[in-house]
Amino acid sequence: MVNPSEQVNKEKNIESVLQEARLFPPSPEFSADAHIKSLQDYEQLYAKAKTDPQAFWAELAEQELHWFQKWDQVLNWQPPTAQWFINGKLNISYNCLDRHLTTWRRNKAAIIWEGEPGDSRTITYGELHREVCQFANVLKDMGVKKGDRVGIYMPMIPEAAIAMLACARIGAPHSVVFGGFSAEALRDRLEDAQAKVVVTADGGFRKDKVVPLKSEVDKALEHGASSVEKVIVVERTKEPVTMKEGRDYWWHDLQKTASADCPAEIMDSEDTLFILYTSGSTGKPKGVVHTTGGYNLYTHMTTKWIFDLKDTDVYWCTADVGWITGHSYIVYGPLSNGATSLMYEGVPRPSNPGCFWDVVEKYGVNVFYTAPTAIRSFIQQGEHIPNARNLSSLRLLGTVGEPINPEAWMWYHRVIGGGKCPIVDTWWQTETGGVMITPLPGATTTKPGSATRPFPGIIADVVDKDGNAVPDNAGGYLVIKHPWPSMLRTVYNNPERFQKTYWEPITSVEGKPVYFAGDSARRDKDGYFWIMGRVDDVMNISGHRLGSMELESALVSHPAVAEASVVGVPHEIKGEDIYAFVTLENNYSASDELAKELKQHVVTEIGAIARPGTIQFAEALPKTRSGKIVRRFLRQIAAGEDIVGDKSTVVDPSVLDKLREKV
Ligand code: PRX
Repeated sequence: MVNPSEQVNKEKNIESVLQEARLFPPSPEFSADAHIKSLQDYEQLYAKAKTDPQAFWAELAEQELHWFQKWDQVLNWQPPTAQWFINGKLNISYNCLDRHLTTWRRNKAAIIWEGEPGDSRTITYGELHREVCQFANVLKDMGVKKGDRVGIYMPMIPEAAIAMLACARIGAPHSVVFGGFSAEALRDRLEDAQAKVVVTADGGFRKDKVVPLKSEVDKALEHGASSVEKVIVVERTKEPVTMKEGRDYWWHDLQKTASADCPAEIMDSEDTLFILYTSGSTGKPKGVVHTTGGYNLYTHMTTKWIFDLKDTDVYWCTADVGWITGHSYIVYGPLSNGATSLMYEGVPRPSNPGCFWDVVEKYGVNVFYTAPTAIRSFIQQGEHIPNARNLSSLRLLGTVGEPINPEAWMWYHRVIGGGKCPIVDTWWQTETGGVMITPLPGATTTKPGSATRPFPGIIADVVDKDGNAVPDNAGGYLVIKHPWPSMLRTVYNNPERFQKTYWEPITSVEGKPVYFAGDSARRDKDGYFWIMGRVDDVMNISGHRLGSMELESALVSHPAVAEASVVGVPHEIKGEDIYAFVTLENNYSASDELAKELKQHVVTEIGAIARPGTIQFAEALPKTRSGKIVRRFLRQIAAGEDIVGDKSTVVDPSVLDKLREKV
């Protein structure tokens, strides 16, 4: 693990966030209208949740969700296993759809969708319910039963959300794979989850290009994933695809004849809702398992209080449904609240760098949630682009995915928010299911660059390796000390990895195990958290999470590569970029062409998000006596920094100087 105090020093050099003294209290008008109206309200809620977490969550679960049967115990905590709302019965698709149909929301827009080419669709709760029920019946007809896994590999189109909700409706855990992942990456995930059916599209539109998806599914199934029996294909781009008789079906053919009558399956609170793969510091991506009741409640509450949703709001989260942010804050959280959730297929692109602002203007978006990497690229393009649009509908902004540097925060506040919108900088992870540390916009005075304070019910701390709390402003490891409803339940098929990754790195605190987030942080004198970044070998490239080891495995699978070591280097727009050190097999020699080929090879193995920025060929890599590559020094070399630290751990320290000369 990286020592957090090294990161504090690094951070100081980049930006003097330790001196950040600007304060942004919510305006009285915003607070007056907010769900949580004052610091005192937040503190009261926080204290209530801390004193009696079970009573706190039980009260909200009763008030905010529909249960077919009430639980008989709120929490069973047998570390590291937590169960919430034991024997409670519910269905998240019922909470996201059916219960709104008996209210005026039946005809309210549930999803407003805008395609990249400019086509659009508005789907009311009534319509969404019908389509979900139909697709749930389609899945049943395909032989999908409660407990069977369904892979979803889709562009950002409403059918992605419909497929997720249909799975939830019949109790079939979905495993959404981001559409930017390659056939190889898709195959690994489908195999691990043993998916029975895959839902996909012919392709999608991204950056003015057609991105093929069905052909990637075909490749994945050619080379494995033999558990997959059927493939359902949405027609989106109308590019030709090959349909295999008896295996592949068109979505529209099946939907046409499917019955719209499909009562929601009665699910146990602890039944698996979905598996979502994410990168770790070792091995292949892990299947993070989320269950039904706790996840429904926590995403519901965080959406309501953090985004301060009003029934008249148009709410837009720009994430992709392939990531946890899309699961929790495009689909489940907003729909459970009966909100209008905007879905956009495109991303800013050279032909229209201002497309986000066009969408804000067109639909009068009120709440906008995006990633710091996007904000940094907007800054680079210039403020004349957003300034040319009417953004006055915006009332609240959010960020997620990586630390936001205070200057980007200030720009977002001034240019996009017109100086009047609070910003919620939300820290969380695939594993946490929902936002953990965040301002509540009507209550919290924000500081640019800080995710501020934990959500009610979340006991966060910054500790050293032995679990002792560190003093104010000293770097340490971010931990969570009490279970929360939407915490991951396990790593799919790998309980040992679950235990080892999250519950062992930090010695227990006061005899109790703590959840290790993999991030370092510091807490200031006001109790505000400043997240500094990962302390394991996980990188954050444009807010996308990638493990050094998966990248190294991808490189080593190329015949030219003998050994590879991958580190992250700071990057102005992406936050971090991938820097790979590679040694070659005897019969290969370094060249620009080979570097290009290796970059492309990683894209084929993982996907375009994993394309290395730099490949540095090396004669040798720095290793310990036991043969372990020392990434710490490679990180310094890649960043062009001086090599600091005890070089005697490296068998041949001259290797370091040779690598340094080549940068
Ligand atoms: O390092 C933290 C960073 O993103 C990691 C989680 O990545 P992932 O599971 O892909 O989920 C991303 C979306 C929830 C964290 O361990 N991260 C996320 N949000 C923030 C952040 N770092 C700093 N500030 C944030 N607001």
